Amino acid sequence: MNPRRFKIIFFLGGIAALALIGGVAFVSNQEQDDQFCASCHTQPESEYLARFQNALAQGRGIDLAAFHHRIQKASTRCIDCHGGEGLLGRAQVITISALDAFKHYTGLARQPAVIVIPVQNEACIKCHEDFVHKTGFENHMHNKMLDPDAPFLRCTDCHVTHRQGDERNGFQFRDAIFPQCEYCHVQMQKGPRGLK
Ligand code: HEC
Ligand code: HEC
Ligand code: HEC
Ligand code: HEC
Ligand code: HEC
Repeated sequence: MNPRRFKIIFFLGGIAALALIGGVAFVSNQEQDDQFCASCHTQPESEYLARFQNALAQGRGIDLAAFHHRIQKASTRCIDCHGGEGLLGRAQVITISALDAFKHYTGLARQPAVIVIPVQNEACIKCHEDFVHKTGFENHMHNKMLDPDAPFLRCTDCHVTHRQGDERNGFQFRDAIFPQCEYCHVQMQKGPRGLK
């Protein structure tokens, strides 16, 4: 390759790399802001965002996410659960986000959005580690999750996050929780089955 052309390619490559780093930095910075999410998304995101604001105004969250926003004095944002945990989780979310931005600006996006990257358990555990590890039978639905014989369970299969519920019962939904209790009992061949 002639050196001049090599220089040009090198130069263009450099610009592309900078643009990519810039794009990632831009997205990482912008996504800290909940309003940013609603700027592209219509439903259900604008609804979820409205619930955040209502939770502060009314002193009561209508779903588990809005409850978090209220209890943490507005410091829990969308990104605290949806950001991806660890290097790999973060990289996945950033890649998907870049794709999503592309889909948005080219009109290829589906609304409402479909979950591609489920909220990882680590997203909850980073704040709730002490509670999850608490020993004793009353807390066995959490601490048994760490048992090597236990099947993999998602925190969010039991703790459905954007379904409307009640703060007073901690947003517990039997129809979500009991099948998970049952599933673990069946897999571990311990504990009661046929919970209703
Ligand atoms: C540049 C526009 C844009 C912005 C800003 C944006 N999104 Fe999205 N998002 C999209 C598009 C497009 C999709 C994919 C829709 C589809 O499935 O075609 C998507 C998909 C999603 C999904 C489902 C896919 C998955 O990741 O599992 C979630 C959850 C989501 N967005 C949350 C958020 C949150 C939280 C924010 C703010 C931190 C945000 N979005 C900001 C455009 C955007
Ligand atoms: C406390 C954690 C938490 C917070 C805070 C949170 N989400 Fe979610 N979100 C979830 C979970 C859990 C799901 C269900 C999908 C899954 O299992 O990953 C979900 C699903 C979604 C979906 C997919 C559609 C649906 O209803 O399943 C969108 C879009 C979304 N969230 C946007 C947002 C936006 C926008 C905000 C901020 C206003 C937000 N979320 C705040 C945990 C959270
Ligand atoms: C099999 C279903 C199930 C799974 C999976 C599950 N939980 Fe729970 N969780 C419950 C139930 C039921 C309660 C209510 C317990 C009670 O009131 O004694 C609860 C309560 C909680 C509470 C509230 C404690 C309080 O102060 O009242 C937190 C926090 C919590 N879970 C976090 C998590 C996290 C983090 C994970 C994932 C590591 C998780 N849970 C997985 C069923 C589950
Ligand atoms: C940024 C920190 C943070 C994150 C992330 C977080 N939580 Fe919480 N959560 C809190 C705090 C603070 C409270 C209120 C004090 C308490 O009960 O521990 C709370 C309370 C709860 C409660 C009790 C609700 C009630 O009405 O009493 C449940 C259940 C819960 N969280 C589950 C989850 C799950 C599931 C996730 C992941 C999807 C999650 N949390 C992510 C900080 C967090
Ligand atoms: C991660 C796995 C797992 C989950 C989730 C789980 N269990 Fe269990 N459960 C067990 C195991 C294992 C035992 C056997 C007791 C032991 O070995 O300590 C058990 C035993 C029990 C027992 C019988 C106690 C006895 O004295 O024999 C009851 C009742 C029970 N579970 C209720 C529940 C309910 C209700 C839920 C959902 C909220 C639940 N479990 C979720 C693993 C689980």
